[in-house]
Formats: sequence, structure tokens, C-alpha cells
Amino acid sequence: MAFLKDTTLGIDFGTSNSAMAVRQGRGAARLLALEGAANTLPTALFFNAEDHRTHFGRDAVAQYLAGTEGRLMRSLKSLLGSALLQEQTAVHGKLVSYQDVISLFLRMLAQSALDSLGGMPDRVWLGRPVHFVDGDTARDQQAEMALRQAAQDAGFENVAFQLEPIAAALDYEQRIDREALVLVVDIGGGTSDFTVVRLGPERMAQVDRSGDVLATTGIHLGGTDFDRRLNLELLMPLLGFRHTGPSGREVPNRVFFDLSTWHLIQWLYTPRTLREAQGLRPDYADPQLHARLMTVLTERYGHRLANTVEQAKISASLQDADAALALDWVEAGLGALMTPEGLARHLEAPLQQVVACAHDCVQRADLKPAQLQAIYLTGGSSALRPLRQVLRAAFPDTPQVEGDLFGGVASGLAVAAR
Ligand SMILES: Nc1ncnc2c1ncn2[C@@H]1O[C@H](COP(=O)(O)OP(=O)(O)OP(=O)(O)O)[C@@H](O)[C@H]1O
Ligand SMILES: [Mg+2]
Repeated sequence: MAFLKDTTLGIDFGTSNSAMAVRQGRGAARLLALEGAANTLPTALFFNAEDHRTHFGRDAVAQYLAGTEGRLMRSLKSLLGSALLQEQTAVHGKLVSYQDVISLFLRMLAQSALDSLGGMPDRVWLGRPVHFVDGDTARDQQAEMALRQAAQDAGFENVAFQLEPIAAALDYEQRIDREALVLVVDIGGGTSDFTVVRLGPERMAQVDRSGDVLATTGIHLGGTDFDRRLNLELLMPLLGFRHTGPSGREVPNRVFFDLSTWHLIQWLYTPRTLREAQGLRPDYADPQLHARLMTVLTERYGHRLANTVEQAKISASLQDADAALALDWVEAGLGALMTPEGLARHLEAPLQQVVACAHDCVQRADLKPAQLQAIYLTGGSSALRPLRQVLRAAFPDTPQVEGDLFGGVASGLAVAAR
């Protein structure tokens, strides 16, 4: 393979979206077009059982939503560090591990980089969250090793890892004209990461920036977890979650947790799970709720439900107004409502955890909040209105600055020194 000299490729393999940026010499970082003109792409694969091809990104999601026969996989990054990563699954009639599926996605990125650049950059930075796994260094290390292996199998060489929040900070640094102490907040689909850094135009040229990174913290909690909570509150009760059966006990709730967890949905459509779900019938007092559960499982509507919740979350947050969740495709007339108050209330606990992690970062940097010049926000979930509000309450005097929510990490990786 031809290597492009003095060229750096930054790869942000995200839980929900991925992006790549390239930098030649000391030039500016440039995001690569990944799907048509779009320079970010949903981290999604669809194994189409009709044309027997693998589809990626928006195309993958659209095919699934259109009801094409096949399997959708999302949120694969959440499996890094878990035992499920080595589980085998049938894809186009062959058994592969989920790590292989990650590699398949990265191979598509590698091909995409080759196509648009005409060769492979001689240096590759791959982003990683501060913690793939909270509170377990060994499993965290395993997660990074698995991602490195997947990247190598995909054809990437000379891969090094950089923390995603540091990459986000480096991207922000390209756009400021004076030195500043900044709390960088990257709230994505799977993780929330923080770093307190000293940034400035004069500092950019230094190769070793470790002295400027005052602290980093991170927590395995992000937008997909918000979706799960909202799903459990708003939709799963329609299928029998917290429903009391004839014996006075609630319906066993495992299936509802799995159905509302992005990276576990794809496990639910096996004959065994369907049999188990069918077996829950005596646990229901209301047969209609059970019938809905069976419709969702047999029609493989799990991702569609999760997607409906996610869209309503975004809409209720952006508009600060009620968002309707229409579920006519499950049952005529079925639906739910996401209100701005509900959004804030159902997410209060995880948002408090996120803010505690931000506080922890500032404390570890040995700073008082008043010493911060800015809070720099990136990652899709940093747009969430209730998140902004709890952050403002926690750091009332620090201005919030919004960055490139979906491309910033990739751009920052491309300008990281090596
Ligand atoms: N306007 C919005 N308001 C709230 N949430 C949003 C908005 N837009 C996107 N999101 C959420 O942002 C998340 C995706 O953000 P992003 O693409 O930054 O994550 P990621 O980089 O893939 O994940 P990670 O960095 O955790 O691996 C999703 O959970 C999505 O629902
Ligand atoms: Mg991210």
C-alpha cells in the first residue's frame, strides 16, 4: 500500500457516529466526506439478507427502517470491554465475532480514506474514551487492545491512541487567539469525557503537551443510556414493563432492559428469546400488552423503538416542546408523549452523575470553577437542554462555548502531535 508521507489521519470511532479527518504537514485538519457529502456517519451496519451485502451508516439505518430483511447492528463500541465482544454471530451465513464486525466497519472507513486520499496516511490516531469500562483497568486495557486489533485487521497501520476529550481540546485550540484554562466536555452516545487543559496559540507547536493536561475524567454513560431510560419510562410499559400479572408479581423485566439497550437489541431475535418471551404470557394480566411485546420481537422492531425514542429526545430538547412518539406500526393508535419536563425528570439521575464527573475533573486539576475561562461543549449529547441546565447550575460563572459537536474529535486527532 502507498503511504502518504507526513500525513495524519484522525479516526473518531464513536458509539453512535464516526468521523475521519486528515492533515498534511502543518496544514489545517480537513474532515473527509464519508457518505455522499456528509462528513459523519452513523456507526451502523446492516446485513441485508436480500442482496447479501453489508450496508453502512445512514444507508444501513434506512434499509432497516424500510423493513428490508436483514440484521441491523448499532452501538458496537459499547461491546468493547465486555465478554460479548468475542461471541459469535451469523452474518451472511458465516459465524463471526462482534470484534470482526467492528473490524468490518473500520475496513469500510479505511477504504473510504484510501478512495478520497489516494493512499493511506503514514500516521493514524484513533480516539478512545477516558474509560471504556468504569473502574476496571484490566477490562479497559482489553477493550483498547481489541480495538487496536480490529483496526489492524481493517488495514490501518501505525495506529496510536489519543483520549477523545484531549482531541476535542486540540480542535478547540485551533480557534482561540489567547491562552485559556478550559474544561472540555464531550458527551457522546456511550461515554461522557472531561479534561481540564491549558490551551493557547503559542502552546500548539509544542510536541509534548502532557504538562498542559491538568486532569481527565470519564464515565461510561451517554446518549444511548439516556435513550434506554426514556424507553423504559415511556415505551416499555406499553409492552408490559412494571405490569402486574395474575399472581401479583411483575412481568420478569430482563427482556425490557435488553430491548431498550442499543447494543443488546440484536440479541433478542433468536428462536430461544422468542420462545422465552412467548412463555411470559401467563405473567400478564392484560393479553394485549403481551401481544405487543411479541409483535415487537417477531417484527424486529427493537431498533425502531429505540430510534423513535432518540428522535423524540432530540426534538423535545431542541424545540423545548412536547414530542409525540407514534407507534401505529406496532398497533393502530398506539403512542406516547415526550415532554420537556419528563426529559429533565427521567434523566436527572444520570445527568447528576455526568456533572459529578465534571466536578471531579476540575477538582483533580486542583482548580476552583472560577479559575476556568470556558466550558467547551462537544459531542451530540452536549446539546441536550437539561444537560446544559445542570452544567450551568454547577458552573454558574463559566461561559459555555459550543464546538463542532460531531466532527471535533476527528479534527483534533488529525492535529495531535506525534
Ligand atoms: N440535539 C441533540 N440533543 C440531544 N442529544 C443529541 C442531539 N443530537 C444528537 N444527540 C445524541 O448524541 C449522541 C451521539 O453523539 P456523538 O455522535 O457525539 O456520539 P459518539 O461520538 O458516537 O459517542 P462516543 O463518543 O460516546 O463514543 C446520540 O445519543 C444522540 O441521540
Ligand atoms: Mg464521541
